[in-house]
Amino acid sequence: MTTGAARGAPVVDIRGAVKRFADLTVLDHCSLTAQEGEILTLLGPSGCGKTTLLRCIAGFLTPDAGEILIDGQDTIPIPVNRRSVGVVFQSYALFPHLTVARNVAYGLRMRGMAASEIDKRVATALATVSLTGFEARYPSQLSGGQQQRVAIARVLVLEPRVLLLDEPFNALDAKLRGTMQMELRQLIKRLGITAIFVTHDQEEALTMSDRIAVMRAGKIEQLGTPEEIFDRPRSAYVADFVGASNFWDGFANGGRVVLPDGQTVTTSLSGEVRVMIRPHNLALRPAAGQSSSWTGLIRFRRHVGALMEYEIELDAEHSLRAVALRDGSVSSLASGDTVSLSLRDPAACIVFPRS
Ligand SMILES: Nc1ncnc2c1ncn2[C@@H]1O[C@H](COP(=O)(O)OP(=O)(O)OP(=O)(O)O)[C@@H](O)[C@H]1O
Ligand SMILES: [Mg+2]
Repeated sequence: MTTGAARGAPVVDIRGAVKRFADLTVLDHCSLTAQEGEILTLLGPSGCGKTTLLRCIAGFLTPDAGEILIDGQDTIPIPVNRRSVGVVFQSYALFPHLTVARNVAYGLRMRGMAASEIDKRVATALATVSLTGFEARYPSQLSGGQQQRVAIARVLVLEPRVLLLDEPFNALDAKLRGTMQMELRQLIKRLGITAIFVTHDQEEALTMSDRIAVMRAGKIEQLGTPEEIFDRPRSAYVADFVGASNFWDGFANGGRVVLPDGQTVTTSLSGEVRVMIRPHNLALRPAAGQSSSWTGLIRFRRHVGALMEYEIELDAEHSLRAVALRDGSVSSLASGDTVSLSLRDPAACIVFPRS
């Protein structure tokens, strides 16, 4: 497992956590460490156990085996309300009948704090999420992004050691989601909190995280920085889940795989292999006139902002995806054209065993 750059002391240390629901094993000897001040993201498909792991860290669930340490202390005997863990859920569930200030004050009132101290803390928490002046409003009088910020302030006011966020932006539209990602990342960094963030959106994970843990069926498949996960996926599962990928089936011999354009990719594997080619690593040229060893037919093309994405049919069963900047060299390529394909950078391909 890649560990990425070590940052500081472990704050959350999950050791071999197992959680079963009846005969379904949802966490399967899951181990993971979140370091001081980092944003660690759990990324994985629906049902892989992300929420279950968060609920175990928060104390809403008890693992059947394994340990969860916070600052070196075993948390399992510690009740939920005595753990220094704040949770922001997907549905932020503000109290509709309470003002913003009352919503944020709620947890402190539960703790029996003096009113003057509560007022001070609420003011600070609202300033932190840029909502000073919104104290008297009700949730229904706020935008989705503002409601989300109240939900975050409500947790921050409790000054948790660890912040857990379970898909906190799901209710927001794409644009606001992008803004909130940047804002929340900056806020967490400014406060120096250790955060564990859950998403099944790979782009969100790449944007938000210091490190990403890719989960598969209750286990951590790979842990690394966004660059490591994207550029050096350890398995075809990770490669397929993080970023679009093409997979080309080939044969490795003498430490090399020869691709159809004649370029070679080096590997320590031998025999049947699967080569990962990112769509931006495929160069397209009109195939007109010249004979080329790797050609395909453009099935369709799609505008993606400044990029053009192509679906290229190689034969009845195989197609590839290519992406290019929408500049002069590719804008003439259209559906139905035959193109010749080549790798821009063979070293950026990753070779996996074919299983
Ligand atoms: N209380 C429960 N009782 C029985 N099964 C449960 C319970 N909670 C979760 N599960 C099952 O455990 C598995 C993992 O659930 P979990 O909520 O952790 O997934 P997730 O990775 O958060 O998925 P999503 O991305 O959809 O939120 C699922 O198959 C789910 O149905
Ligand atoms: Mg979930």
